[in-house]
Amino acid sequence: MLPTSEYDSFADIYAVWTDTAASTRANLAFYVDAYLQAAGPVVELGVGDGRIAVPAAARGRAVIGIDLSAAMLERCRRRAADAGVLEQLTLQHADFRHFKLDQPAGLVALPYHSLGHLPTLDDKRGAIAHIFSQLQPGGRFVFDDFLMTPALIDHMRRVQLRAAYRTAAGAETLLWVTSLVDEASQSIRVVTWEDTLDAEGVLVRRQYRRLSLSWLEPSQARTLLQEAGFVIESCFGDFARTPFANNTAREQVWIARRPE
Ligand SMILES: C[S@@+](CC[C@H](N)C(=O)[O-])C[C@H]1O[C@@H](n2cnc3c(N)ncnc32)[C@H](O)[C@@H]1O
Repeated sequence: MLPTSEYDSFADIYAVWTDTAASTRANLAFYVDAYLQAAGPVVELGVGDGRIAVPAAARGRAVIGIDLSAAMLERCRRRAADAGVLEQLTLQHADFRHFKLDQPAGLVALPYHSLGHLPTLDDKRGAIAHIFSQLQPGGRFVFDDFLMTPALIDHMRRVQLRAAYRTAAGAETLLWVTSLVDEASQSIRVVTWEDTLDAEGVLVRRQYRRLSLSWLEPSQARTLLQEAGFVIESCFGDFARTPFANNTAREQVWIARRPE
């Protein structure tokens, strides 16, 4: 039986969440390019609402999308149907630690800090080893993770007004976010809340949601990849493919290859 997913109760604000995030535009172009250039089947782990998979499918690339959240997969299906590319997607309701493919993949991608949804180093180690086993020789694993600097930790701990918008039903809404960051366990508890206002701007409803995340230090990511048998081709410090350097990097973006 699959574990429950926090994203089942996050799915209906996921589009606002990604539309207002700093890195989504850059990571979208980066991953779509990677999918289009891949040799062999392309798998996106944590496909979510198809934010990346659907534009790749619209450009002719079939994508196998795997996700633990039924609500996110339903959004992905709808997005693909609206774009007329549903037949280009194969969606699997599965955990990305245990998914099974009909044939080995040419590319497995795990975008947008999603490895961080596995809480422990052992979970991540197991997932990376499993991903290795599902790749064809020469196949690539591409993922990104937070680069947690003191400035980013400070930013995450602040209360931020993330978006002001009207829902589909016309309700004026403010989306707020803050995070509990625990440096010792490298974990992040994201807390969001939406304030729904009436015509006079008076609060009529507040809804809280939570997401659990964690991060790897770059040295830990390198070790886990190498332990699994990967050859590291690149580590970038952003989605423009700038080589990783401690003083300039804003993300860690890894490209690893299963040897021939
Ligand atoms: C940050 S979202 C990324 C969605 C999409 N890839 C994107 O970039 O917009 C993370 C996704 O991973 C999924 N997820 C989290 N843990 C998972 C797991 N163990 N197995 C499969 N999917 C998981 C969530 O349900 C969610 O849809």
